[in-house]
Amino acid sequence: MFFNHIEAAPADPILGLTEAYKNDPNPNKINLGVGVYQNESGVTPVLDCVKQAEQKILVEETSKSYLPITGLPEYGRFVRELLFGEDSSIIRNQRAVTCHCPGGTGALRIGADFLKQQNVAACVWISDPTWANHYQIATAAGLKFERYPYYDKENHGLAFNAMLQTLEQAEEGDAVLLHACCHNPTGIDPTLEQWEQIADLLNRKHLLPFIDFAYQGFGHGIEEDAQGLRVIAARCPEMLIASSFSKNLGLYNERVGALTIVSSDPQTADRVLSQLKIAVRTAISNPPAHGEKIVTTVLGDAQLRARWEEELSQMRERIRAMRVLLASKLKDAGAGDFDFVVEQNGMFSFSGLNKEQVERLKKEFGIYIVGSGRICVAGINQRNIDALVSAIAAVVK
Ligand code: LMR
Repeated sequence: MFFNHIEAAPADPILGLTEAYKNDPNPNKINLGVGVYQNESGVTPVLDCVKQAEQKILVEETSKSYLPITGLPEYGRFVRELLFGEDSSIIRNQRAVTCHCPGGTGALRIGADFLKQQNVAACVWISDPTWANHYQIATAAGLKFERYPYYDKENHGLAFNAMLQTLEQAEEGDAVLLHACCHNPTGIDPTLEQWEQIADLLNRKHLLPFIDFAYQGFGHGIEEDAQGLRVIAARCPEMLIASSFSKNLGLYNERVGALTIVSSDPQTADRVLSQLKIAVRTAISNPPAHGEKIVTTVLGDAQLRARWEEELSQMRERIRAMRVLLASKLKDAGAGDFDFVVEQNGMFSFSGLNKEQVERLKKEFGIYIVGSGRICVAGINQRNIDALVSAIAAVVK
């Protein structure tokens, strides 16, 4: 028998929760596990700008033939403008190349494959904690990984000194994975001054930045959320960026992400692109078109783009409002001081709840959050917040 020795793998710590939630017969169940935005009615909407773009595509599309290996040239251009800003010298000097990858995960994996295949870096430093899939992706690509501390449990803040001290131990030539904004799972981001110090360290020690940028627009705004990445790009001549439209355009199941690689000069960038094409060709051949065409249609039309920015800021503001309400209701319920939740950015809040408390939330109340205590604040609304607050109050007492 070929397969009998195969052991059962554990369920995915995030997507496995959605499966468990779906199977739970509790009529009052609440899913605050996966990082997916839900509106006040608990629905993950198709954005209006996306619907309008899809109608246009339906009328205008004449072929389903293959896209180029790296995706449409205008897609790459829009991605780079979002990352670096429209007037960026990196763009002007043609130092950055982009390929469409299936989602942020696809971009991380193609990037990790590229590091391994081209002998660019053998080891990648990853924050502790991080999105659980980061460690698996590095391992699957054949890279070693090390952890750097990120979270100061006592102060619910960034363990900045410990982070820098640990990164001092990295070997020249290692890669460092950083979350550009809305750190997953903690929701805690470096300040601009801290980004500058991180960039100095990376530059001085010749470490390669590998930036995960999955939540642009969910922290403080489209431009604001790119500030850290741009500080790094100004100090470090080379970097990789895995970005995604899953969250900010709500295109989760269309799998629209991008890997962008910055080189020190355009000739190197061309050679990098030629190898990236092989990495993409051997993994997925060429990218799926529908989501990519939605992105180019929305970003290429002034009215649709304005509508997107409006819808994105509505999502961001609703999450911020839920943070404020959650902290104040938890205080009123005597659950303790959760004011730190208001300071965190993006979809997630690292609640400080331990494994047992998370388990009780699930078993006794049908409330699903990630085992690390990560709550998806984007799933909280006026109708479920009171049930959530009384359940948290019950498990922390
Ligand atoms: C999350 O962290 O919940 C999201 O990025 C979805 C995923 O793929 O895990």
